[in-house]
Amino acid sequence: MSIEKTVSVGLGDRTYDIHIGRDILSAAGNHLPFSIDGRRVFVLTDENVLEPHARTVCAALEKTAAASVSCLALPPGESTKSFAALERVLAWILDQGGTRQSVLFAVGGGVIGDLGGFAAAIMMRGIPFVQVPTTLLAMVDSAVGGKTAIDVPQGKNLVGAFYQPAGVLCDLDVLNTLPAREMRAGYAETVKYGLINDPEFFLWLENGGGKSVLNKEPDALIKAVETACRKKAEIVEADEREGGVRALLNLGHTFGHALEAAAGYDGDRLLHGEAVAIGMALAFRLSARTGICPATDARRVEDHLQAMDLPTRIGAIVPKLAASPDDLLTIMKRDKKATAQTIHFILLHGVGQAFIAKDVDSKDVLDILTE
Ligand code: NAD
Ligand code: GLY
Repeated sequence: MSIEKTVSVGLGDRTYDIHIGRDILSAAGNHLPFSIDGRRVFVLTDENVLEPHARTVCAALEKTAAASVSCLALPPGESTKSFAALERVLAWILDQGGTRQSVLFAVGGGVIGDLGGFAAAIMMRGIPFVQVPTTLLAMVDSAVGGKTAIDVPQGKNLVGAFYQPAGVLCDLDVLNTLPAREMRAGYAETVKYGLINDPEFFLWLENGGGKSVLNKEPDALIKAVETACRKKAEIVEADEREGGVRALLNLGHTFGHALEAAAGYDGDRLLHGEAVAIGMALAFRLSARTGICPATDARRVEDHLQAMDLPTRIGAIVPKLAASPDDLLTIMKRDKKATAQTIHFILLHGVGQAFIAKDVDSKDVLDILTE
């Protein structure tokens, strides 16, 4: 077991550490801010992650503290972020004698992390939970920062809570079993930090770092995950509940969420990270169109995403979306960050210079969607 880097998220008495390294799962009980000795421990996962990763966590927790460990594996996929699955998780914890001292481990991607975090937030008004992200996307984004949610028929992530984990364990070895397409989707959320406010990170990714990340080269992975977690921690520390700068993390998401909705949240058709990649390219094009960003920067970003085999155009979604540009605009106006009159976009003055724009003209957005 080796911990290579630790990033702290400083939130007063809710401060926690993100440990990044190798073979961490086999010692999962050793790096928590509390002892699990004698506690009831619940390990939530999905069926793709159960063998071997969640089993390794369960074995480690049983060994470390002789704690009583119960494991639940749910079907994989976005449809698991549902009320029905939430009810199942809550009943599982209660039926197994869970108490306020119980600990919930969410071992999986963003779906299990978001669902598990929300269950932990509302179980007895809050039990400790630990994020054990097993996708690149979850390591660089969803496991950090305390946003938890489920989807409802009215929209994605509309029911949830801000609830910080007690710790995050990023074991890079688990990425060895992650399919290449999922790695690329996680890469989109990684490159996002360079585009928001770290041009040097983007340059490193552009100059070979990105390819090394996708090839799962150890040093590149550690640098990318650590940088992303540090960048996200800085923003969350400044604005935990998204009253201001945290909105920068939504770069590419206003377009991306509309595309995911139009694709019916069908992961075979469009993964969240792929939607974000298209959304970031569109945000740059919109910025260039309105004259606030050099067209060369928009081109540079699109070239890089394409070189990483990520989609950058709506037309790349297969099968093609039935939604028209007007339909997409209507969906964007329903976004939970929108107000009655305006859609909030994250626009850019250039690579590494993102800002929150509250007065974007719908006509410009329609033009970009129509291109
Ligand atoms: P996911 O959880 O669906 O995982 C992707 C797929 O990979 C699933 O089929 C899963 O079973 C499989 N998988 C996971 N780990 C694996 C491994 N190590 N080896 C093999 N297969 C593995 O998706 P995701 O991309 O991790 O997360 C997407 C979700 O995260 C969305 O619901 C999105 O809304 C949410 N999200 C939340 C936040 C936040 O701040 N809370 C941020 C970004 C995204
Ligand atoms: N993924 C956006 C956020 O955590 O705020």
